[in-house]
Parts: sequence; C-alpha cells; structure tokens
Amino acid sequence: MAVKVIVGSQWGDEGKGKITDILAEHMDLVVRYQGGNNAGHTVVVGDKTFKLHLIPSGVLYKECCCVIANGVVIDPEVFFGEIETLKKQGVYVTSDQLKVSSIAHVILPFHKLLDNRQESKRHEEKIGTTGRGIGPTYTDKVARSGVRIMDLMCRERLAKKIRKHQWELLLPDHELDIEGIIDQCHELGKKLAPFVIDTSLFINQAIDQNKNIILEGAQGTMLDVDHGTYPFVTSSNPVSGGACVGAGIGPHKIDEVLGVVKAYVSRVGEGPFPTELHCETGLRLREKGCEYGTTTGRPRRCGWLDMVALRYAIRVNGMTEICLTKLDVLDGLPSIKICVGYEIEGQLITEFPLDVDDFTSAKPIYEEHPGWTEDISSLTDFDALPENAKDYVRHIELVSGVRIGMVSVGSKRDQTIHLLQAH
Ligand code: GDP
Ligand code: IMO
Ligand code: MG
Repeated sequence: MAVKVIVGSQWGDEGKGKITDILAEHMDLVVRYQGGNNAGHTVVVGDKTFKLHLIPSGVLYKECCCVIANGVVIDPEVFFGEIETLKKQGVYVTSDQLKVSSIAHVILPFHKLLDNRQESKRHEEKIGTTGRGIGPTYTDKVARSGVRIMDLMCRERLAKKIRKHQWELLLPDHELDIEGIIDQCHELGKKLAPFVIDTSLFINQAIDQNKNIILEGAQGTMLDVDHGTYPFVTSSNPVSGGACVGAGIGPHKIDEVLGVVKAYVSRVGEGPFPTELHCETGLRLREKGCEYGTTTGRPRRCGWLDMVALRYAIRVNGMTEICLTKLDVLDGLPSIKICVGYEIEGQLITEFPLDVDDFTSAKPIYEEHPGWTEDISSLTDFDALPENAKDYVRHIELVSGVRIGMVSVGSKRDQTIHLLQAH
C-alpha cells in the first residue's frame, strides 16, 4: 500500500507513460496532477501504441481508476476526443473508471489562440510551446479570471464569466464567436457531468483505505515553472511537490518519489541545453530513440546525460528511486559521455546554476565511459547486460546516490529489467 509520485527528471518525454502503465497493473488509482494535453505519454502493448495526453496512463487496466485532479488544465474537446481514440483502439472508458475534478481549470478556444499569437510575437524569445493553450489557461487561473469545470455546468454562470473576461484586450482582432463558445462549452459541460467529482476527497478516501496510488507527473523537472530553466518552461509544477497541490493531498501522504531518467537527454522546444549534440551522434540518438514529439511531432533535441541537472532534479523532488529508460538506445556507441560539471565564465561549477544566462553559457565537462556493441533490447535480467552497460547504470546510481529500481530497454512492457536487490 503506497502513494508514489512519478516525475520526469529532465525536460519531459523520459518514458513516464511506459513506467506508469507497468506499475498501474497493481494500482487502484492513477492520478494526473498538473499540465494538460501538452503532455504526450506513450504506452505500447503488443502491436498497439497508445498516445495519452490528458487521460492517466493507468487507463489500460480496467480495475485501475484514473483521476484528472484539480491541478490539471482540461480541454473538454480533447478529453472526449481521447476517449473516442481509445474506443477505436478497443479501450472503453466510462465515468466509472475516469474521474475529473470539479475545480480544475478549463482550456478555452481563446487560450489556444492566445498561446499561438504570443509565441509568434516572441521572435527570438520563443519558448516553443505546444500551442495547446496551457500558459494562458494557467495565467487566467492565477489572475482569478479562469473558468473551472464546475462553471461549465451552469450556463448562466459560464456566460457571465466568459463575457466578463476582457478577451478583446488580449486579442483585439479575434473573430471568435463568444456566444457560440458559451453554448459549445455548456454542451461539453453537460456531457462531462457524470465524470465530475471532488477528486481531493476521492483520493484521500482511497489513501485512508490503504489503496495503491500513483500520481503521474507530466513534463519534467527542468520544465517546472519554479525550478526549471525559466522562462523556457511550462506553466505548472511537474515536481513532486506539485502533486500535493495538484491532487489536494498532504505531503506526509506521499511514500515514494520515482524519478524517470532517460539514459541520455532530450528536449523539445526552445531553451538552453548544455549537453545537446549537434553532430552525427545527436542524430543517431534521435533516430534510434524515435525522438519525435508525441504531441506535436517535432524532432526532439538530443544530448548526453547531464548529472549536474539530474542531481538537482533529485534534490528538488526528494527522489527515492530512479527508473532509467531507453538504455537500449545507447547500444552500439563506441563511448558514452556523462556531464559531471560545467565551465561557466572560466569557473568549474558542479551545482545547477539558477540563472538561465549562466546555464546558457555553461560548457559541459564530460567523463567518458566505454560503450557496448550488443543489442540489449530483449534482456530482462540485469546480470545478462554487457559489463559496460552494467557499469554505466551502476555509475549513475553511485553518483546520484539514489537506487535504480528499474531499467527500461524498449518501449514494450516486457522490455524492462526490475532490480529488486542491490546489484
Ligand atoms: P513520456 O512523455 O515521459 O511518457 O515519454 P514519451 O512517450 O513522450 O516518449 C518516450 C518514447 O520512448 C515513447 O515513444 C516510448 O514508447 C519510448 N520508450 C519508452 N521507454 C523506452 C525504452 O526503454 N527504450 C526505447 N527504445 N523506447 C522507449
Ligand atoms: P510530457 O508529459 C516535453 C515543453 C514545450 C515547450 C515548453 C512549454 O510528454 O513529458 P507548453 O505548451 O507547456 O506551454 O510548452 O514545455 N513541453 C514538453 N516537452 N514533454 C512534454 O510533456 C512537454 N510539455 C510541454 O515543448 O518547450
Ligand atoms: Mg511525452
């Protein structure tokens, strides 16, 4: 019986979906606590690939209840679209299995328009957002002008909120039909009603009943609005602390924090990335790792593992365990580098710099590890790994000071090495 947070340790796309799905087999609840459909979590089962954006990655297990909690921003159209897509793939999701918070904020058509307009005006300062309206929706939430799920149920209240909002100030030339949007949102609200509950109450009752719960983070630590590479971040708190606020539970209810760590690093969108590889090896990681955005299809930037950033992520999340993913993507590389420090203005820095300008100018200092030639994607036993692969994993564990409990060597469920004992 445990409450476990799964967090992305880097810039997202670490494989949180795969790991959540594997663990969900023994879970009663899987809860999304922040972000929205900017997330793209892939779960591969047999020859089927599921791309989940809003619905928690526990959905493939009928016995596992999925919760979209208060900290998530919800695009109702996307919500129903995802249910339809799952249905086409043979997964039937009903309101018995899926719960939505009544106080989660709603992504409106204005937010999506604004997200894209703001991006196009940023020129060199572009963030490279997913264009899903995430930033503007969280902006409205904090400005206390947002629309919440419960508002969709009452046309009068919804109309008052939407009409009162001064969209014209932000989007002077918008051609959106405000009254049409009110009608459309109200209709979606009525359709949503059976799914809507007080999710904090529901989750806390499940905790009291000793249920097994995963709080599934979206994005990653380095995209956290507080702890990430601001301003090149998302607008919510993917870190483990965000799970308390975003799900409405107390910090002492969390037992474990599992950090999903890619064996190298990827980033999609703009922003500094000291270990990025602009060479053949970077392209090789992208192609072998299929590093193309699950949500936008954009090619992901790839580079070496950054231990300075990882130690920082371990600290700000209070990580208790690591799951190392995509180790197989490193197969065949003659040598593998790990960044152990930065040179910033002639100084050796080993703690993550909070000033984004320092991080932008950081030159990585590497240590080099020998690679392996074998294909490891079918191995399920740690001892069967090539010596150099074992050393790479052990080294990461040693330097990070956090136990590696799982190593993933492929996108499928069975391409996973479970490490229960010390190795
Ligand atoms: P998430 O956003 O953290 O859930 O990650 P994504 O689903 O966006 O991206 C991870 C990608 O890598 C997906 O295509 C997964 O199917 C795939 N994947 C996950 N784990 C592994 C692994 O260990 N090896 C390989 N080769 N692919 C993996
Ligand atoms: P998952 O959950 C990778 C990035 C965008 C952009 C920045 C801000 O699949 O790991 P936003 O639309 O959130 O305002 O964009 O954050 N980003 C992600 N990158 N994986 C994600 O989610 C991401 N969600 C947002 O590319 O740089
Ligand atoms: Mg993703």
